[in-house]
Amino acid sequence: MNSPLGVAAGPLLNSRWVEGYARLGFDILTYATVRSVAWPAHPLPNIRYVENSEQVAVVSRRPSANGTTVAVSLGAPSREPDVWRKDVRRAKERIGEGQILIVNVLGTPRPDGDAEALIDDYAMCAAWAEESGADAIEVHLTAPDPFAEQPRMLYENVLLAAQILYRVRTGVGVPVLARLGPFRSPRHLHDTATRLAPWASGYVLVPGVHRRVVDNKGQAAFEGSGRERVEIVGADTFPIASRQILEMLVWRKAGAWDRAVLAVGGITSVERAEWLLREGADATLVATAAIFDPYFAARFRQARATAVA
Ligand SMILES: Cc1cc2nc3c(=O)[nH]c(=O)nc-3n(C[C@H](O)[C@H](O)[C@H](O)COP(=O)(O)O)c2cc1C
Repeated sequence: MNSPLGVAAGPLLNSRWVEGYARLGFDILTYATVRSVAWPAHPLPNIRYVENSEQVAVVSRRPSANGTTVAVSLGAPSREPDVWRKDVRRAKERIGEGQILIVNVLGTPRPDGDAEALIDDYAMCAAWAEESGADAIEVHLTAPDPFAEQPRMLYENVLLAAQILYRVRTGVGVPVLARLGPFRSPRHLHDTATRLAPWASGYVLVPGVHRRVVDNKGQAAFEGSGRERVEIVGADTFPIASRQILEMLVWRKAGAWDRAVLAVGGITSVERAEWLLREGADATLVATAAIFDPYFAARFRQARATAVA
């Protein structure tokens, strides 16, 4: 790769966005989440500026002075497979030398469908993405576990997550990345990464933290059921995300397993990206910064060139 900087799943909605960001100098391009069926987005607004705190995030009118932090409630939409499969192929044709295309795939639980059906669905999406030219598959495991009695994410159901990764891994020939986190404890992080290591080429973490999001009157900021707790991403999440990324790197140094670590979460400055790379991350991915600061990659490349000179 030309550089270890890329765009995380989300901002690159189709091949035109992939091409544009490839030209801006982002070298790892993640195609936004795709599914085996067309899936609508939540109603607008689905992205809002927030001030984040431990318990709750409060909507604000403009980005905070500490950097842009947003609440994102999109609902993991997807175009229909016929559309995205052709478009992933176009995206692959439009990126340059030394750039790679990752496709983020999400299984869709069917009414009355069991775990096996969900696993099949993930495997099918991954096979389609590979067929269309993906250089790597990112398995979206930071979605709710539809079979759990208490709310939890799929990566927190390690057995099911391992089965999904196993089926994806054995169905495609390209590297398979597991999207994970945040974790409740370092032990939980270690156990999950260790259990999933046989079926994953790498881990993408930490994609955001969940918070209740309210407006300045204390009312829910996003209307509709299932939107009470929303993913907070961007600048303010860096302390939590980077701590967990470092924990992952420490376990890898200790020899627990040897897998790539693609750092994500609150990387909103070149200094943050460089720091994580120095600590051992294999790549750094940005989403919020890609949207609000599209020349990020140019500054990142310039800083590296200056450091070498
Ligand atoms: C506008 C927007 C859309 C996103 N859409 C997706 C998505 O489709 N699939 C996904 O797995 N993550 C999605 N994310 C999460 C990002 O991949 C990333 O993990 C998260 O934003 C943390 O990175 P950041 O702090 O650099 O924004 C989205 C994020 C943003 C800001």
